[in-house]
Amino acid sequence: MTLVTTTEMLQDAYQNNYAIGAFGAHNLEVIKAIIAGAEKEGVPVILQTTASTYKYVEMSYMIALAKAAAEQAKVPVALHLDHGESFKVVMECLRAGYTSVMIDGSHLPFEENIQLVKKVVEAANAINIPVEAELGTIGGVEDDLQVDEQNAFFTDPELAERFVKETGIQSFAPAFGTAHGKYKQEPKLQFELLEEIHRVTNLPLVMHGASGVSEASVRKSLQYGIAKVNFSTELKDLFAEQLRAFFLENPNENDPRKYFLPAREALIELVQQKIVMLQK
Ligand code: 13P
Ligand code: ZN
Repeated sequence: MTLVTTTEMLQDAYQNNYAIGAFGAHNLEVIKAIIAGAEKEGVPVILQTTASTYKYVEMSYMIALAKAAAEQAKVPVALHLDHGESFKVVMECLRAGYTSVMIDGSHLPFEENIQLVKKVVEAANAINIPVEAELGTIGGVEDDLQVDEQNAFFTDPELAERFVKETGIQSFAPAFGTAHGKYKQEPKLQFELLEEIHRVTNLPLVMHGASGVSEASVRKSLQYGIAKVNFSTELKDLFAEQLRAFFLENPNENDPRKYFLPAREALIELVQQKIVMLQK
């Protein structure tokens, strides 16, 4: 299959109270692990990258890797831009072949955020690519973006309703207590707020910062419209831990075909575990 958009997979998840896993796809090994995990569970999956990831991998490689993955996979695969910071970055991804994009204007004043998102929706939807956008501030660290958890603020449902109506987005990322990166303590998710946001937006919702959120909380959020769940930090942690452990035991190993293998295997299991958590 070629790369698919996230439109159908998110709608199906949303209608049926489960969620699609969206995993940070940092390199070939990670991409192969994500696909293998999704294939083992037989569900669609989203490979997602920030701009700094496609700059690191290089765009032409990024697209070739994702396309090759999608063509061979036994499940639908989408390639999504995560936290696109500007109209220009989104355009670059649309031109290159991403099949889903997020524009993140959450740091902008409300009206400016709306204007930016509207412009992106117009361009992306014209070629049938769905758009995700965020309102409120999700705390923590995501690539070069750092938001002090104290300064993170929750999404206002009234503004969310206007935001969704005026922009015409296909999925919405609210701030309801999750944060990117590592949690200092178990986060307290605002389920009543999420429920209200769900009621007024009536759109597939996206949970950012899902690494470290308990299984019970993730599962509970599926009742309130969460249809896409983003994981990155836990994958990075596990991959690095596995490599460190491997080199401690095998300090002289120099063959990437050997030292990446246990890390990849461990990642497949983690992806499976997360996917299972997202099923109804
Ligand atoms: P974590 O790194 O906390 O899992 O967050 C992932 C994310 O939200 C990517 O947009
Ligand atoms: Zn995020």
